[in-house]
Amino acid sequence: MAFAVNFSPSPLRSPEITICSNNFPKSIISFTRKRPMLSFATTEEPPTTTPEIELEFIGPKPDGDGKYPVDKASAVSGEKLLRTIMADNKLELYGTYGKVMNCGGGGSCGTCIVEVVEGKDLLNERTNTELKYLKKKPEAWRLACQTIVGNKENSGKVVVQRLPQWKK
Ligand code: FES
Repeated sequence: MAFAVNFSPSPLRSPEITICSNNFPKSIISFTRKRPMLSFATTEEPPTTTPEIELEFIGPKPDGDGKYPVDKASAVSGEKLLRTIMADNKLELYGTYGKVMNCGGGGSCGTCIVEVVEGKDLLNERTNTELKYLKKKPEAWRLACQTIVGNKENSGKVVVQRLPQWKK
């Protein structure tokens, strides 16, 4: 008769003791002693929430009722550029020229202009590219491909005017 003790890698399982007998070559008798269950008291942590930025995009032209259309979107704080969020939500960013001649977000055409109506503090500072292209433009104007929405920690609401150059 032979004994084998198998220590399981799982800390919650008891070792298995297997008894093999020469009298019963094909049979293996195995039993496991049950161990009392252990429980640990844990302090409950509040669920972690990912900071999010809510966005509203005001259309460049009023609808038939005279009101400007507003599209809504949301984004995880600090993860995406404004241009990407607009593309993800199929919101038109470019004017006639920009539709054909934009640089694809490379910061070399200056056509992805938006106006930040609300929530400027939830965005990154103007980049050098913006300082170059928007030198003589209103301070609230941004290039969507240079604008990071959120900083991974903040949350709140950003309101964006699309195609502000069309508004007179
Ligand atoms: S897409 Fe060309 S500068 Fe933003």
